[in-house]
Amino acid sequence: MFVSENLGVNEKGHLTVSGTDTVELAAEYGTPLYVMDEEMVRSNCSRFRDSMKKFYGEKGEVHYASKAFSCMEMCRIVASEGIGLDAVSIGELYTALKAGFPMEKIGFHGNNKTDAELEFAVDNGVGHIIVDNISELHRLEAIAAAKGKKPAIMFRIKPGIDAHTHDFVKTGQIDSKFGFALETGEAFDAVKEALSCENISLAGLHCHIGSQIFDIAPFEEAAKVMLGFIAKIKTELGYEVPGLNLGGGFGIKYMDKDDPQPFEVFLERVSAVVKSECEKLGLTQPFMYIEPGRSIAAPAGLTLYTVGARKEIPNIRTYISVDGGMADSPRYILYKSEYEAIVANKANEERTEKVTIAGKCCESGDLIGENMSLQHAESGDIIAVCATGAYNYSMSSNYNRLQKPAVVFVNKGTSRIAVKRETLDDIIRNDV
Ligand code: LLP
Repeated sequence: MFVSENLGVNEKGHLTVSGTDTVELAAEYGTPLYVMDEEMVRSNCSRFRDSMKKFYGEKGEVHYASKAFSCMEMCRIVASEGIGLDAVSIGELYTALKAGFPMEKIGFHGNNKTDAELEFAVDNGVGHIIVDNISELHRLEAIAAAKGKKPAIMFRIKPGIDAHTHDFVKTGQIDSKFGFALETGEAFDAVKEALSCENISLAGLHCHIGSQIFDIAPFEEAAKVMLGFIAKIKTELGYEVPGLNLGGGFGIKYMDKDDPQPFEVFLERVSAVVKSECEKLGLTQPFMYIEPGRSIAAPAGLTLYTVGARKEIPNIRTYISVDGGMADSPRYILYKSEYEAIVANKANEERTEKVTIAGKCCESGDLIGENMSLQHAESGDIIAVCATGAYNYSMSSNYNRLQKPAVVFVNKGTSRIAVKRETLDDIIRNDV
């Protein structure tokens, strides 16, 4: 009936998430409100973790890509599920550190890390630093030497794979700001250089081909290309790179028409390819990492809004304006991403309208979506937008000096604040 399986309707006709009444959540915590279903986050983590073990064995690790949704409570939940983390800035590292996350289970990314970020990672014993470019290698070598440390690195490689997704989230092709190109010999030269560095150990190669990808074939293809490169390094340089990180990017169901494969199928197929390629190429099975972000966080999230104005423009469209918008939900204006919406207090009614849900920002493009199928919505109704758990809170802004919403975790009928709603004083806290 709904796009996420954790949603239901109770006897009052209200939308529920993990058994919790969303209309009551809106009344208790106010709107806009981000709601995260703890049970679903946990089961997504454990499904990835368990299928990695089942299909690949002990030499595998799942890292949650915290750029999708990061806060201390999320880090604690992820840590307690026994999976690692992908962090991409000192802010994400700091959040994990403060949450008590085991730093040795973190892969630190970024195409332009500052010295301060590299030093922070080295000082705090981050598991792997995923080096993106040659100047970063040089800077890291100098930092490690000065500190008398020997960090483990991976190289971010562009495997030259075209994943079928939005141009803004494609990353595997040669024209990308991320990583070393294979075709030009750049990646090979970097590996050669790393092997001569005294203060760095080359622990793996990394690739990430893009995001919201439904097809498993490009991941299999990327694995083959990367293993081919590991074989070439072994033959020509006499070093067998022990780790392979295949990144994230698994697509999720935002709309009825989306039909992602279960994580289990993804891991089964990719593991089989890695194993058979290793056999073919005479390689030891590498330690394998994957970095799902969206697929862990997005389906577990929901955003609640209160409807304000309703504006019917005859023969053109009906606007339903809500008390949030592009500041808390930037994916429509950025990528025209589609979402399912439900009038939470009329969840068992028919969807009789096609409407445009608009935000409250001073910008015509500030929409939650267009042509959205919805129950008849009026001022005071609560609208739930589904599957917003990834890349909404994490990409939110204070545009128009709007206060960022609170984040609440729900679990089988109970709820608790994970991030407080910003106050007006928060809005001016850094102003002098
Ligand atoms: N690993 C690396 C190196 C990445 O760059 C990313 C995402 C991931 C893992 C996680 O990918 P996921 O499993 O979440 O697809 N803001 C965009 C998505 C940007 C993805 C950036 N990198 C959106 O809202 O669609």
